[in-house]
Amino acid sequence: MSIPVVNAQLLRGRKGLIVGIANDRSIAWGCARAFHAFGAELAITYLNDKAKPHVEPLARHVDSPIFMPMDMAIEGQLESVFEAISETWGELDFVVHSIAFSPKDTLGGRVVDVPRDGFLKTMDISCWSFIRMAHLAEPLMKKGGTLFTMTYYGSQKVVENYNIMGVAKAALESTVRYLAAELGPKNIRVHAISPGALATRAASGIPEFDELLEKTKTKSPARELVSIDDVGVATAFLAHDAARLITGQVLYVDGGYHIID
Ligand SMILES: NC(=O)c1ccc[n+]([C@@H]2O[C@H](COP(=O)([O-])OP(=O)(O)OC[C@H]3O[C@@H](n4cnc5c(N)ncnc54)[C@H](O)[C@@H]3O)[C@@H](O)[C@H]2O)c1
Repeated sequence: MSIPVVNAQLLRGRKGLIVGIANDRSIAWGCARAFHAFGAELAITYLNDKAKPHVEPLARHVDSPIFMPMDMAIEGQLESVFEAISETWGELDFVVHSIAFSPKDTLGGRVVDVPRDGFLKTMDISCWSFIRMAHLAEPLMKKGGTLFTMTYYGSQKVVENYNIMGVAKAALESTVRYLAAELGPKNIRVHAISPGALATRAASGIPEFDELLEKTKTKSPARELVSIDDVGVATAFLAHDAARLITGQVLYVDGGYHIID
């Protein structure tokens, strides 16, 4: 799918932070491309020096004026990003949180065997990070704004091999509802986007992922895998004023996969 060109400037003048681009297959990149196509200005982060050469050309492609390292495991880096946003823009309209992590031994085993440190790490990077971003974004969203995170159907149903990440995504979806209730009076909306399975780097850490892709394709009413552009355009729609009374949602962008038994 290509980004629709009609009303290409729907988000002109809007400023947002995109976290989670690892390469050009990342869901966050699909979001960056859509928001950019609709006229928004973007701050973009990369994980570390190893990731930088993969992300830098993408940030350049969307003319990002703020491009900084951000590893949630390094204290103060997220705060530095928000300081740069405050100095450069003084305000913020949207945040796309598209990160998740679980140590291999934690993600690869049964939930019943998960060790405490693996559990805390998983929840820290995959869930608390969104709470922290909302906390830092709130004072900058002076006229309101929209916060997005990425979730998966494995939060609702037991999906083979998704294991502890399903638990983390369930917490993340609940977080969305609480944040939406708390920030709604300030005109700040909060959503989770739930894409169907997509072949990204994070997904390659899940055993038998190819089988899940095949199942997704054959079971979904659309009989098609979604693309990162499909996810990006749906996310950008929810950032538009046309969606001003929609909040606290988990929006499935999955070709209808989740409605089928
Ligand atoms: N790929 C899928 O099938 C799928 C489906 C539904 C939801 N999701 C979710 O989408 C989001 C993005 O994943 P993706 O599939 O685009 O994979 P991806 O590998 O492209 O992106 C994952 C990102 O998480 C970042 N990250 C990991 N640890 C971090 C840390 N400590 N600090 C900061 N960033 C960190 C990585 O740098 C990377 O950019 C994740 O939340 C994932 O769970 C993915």
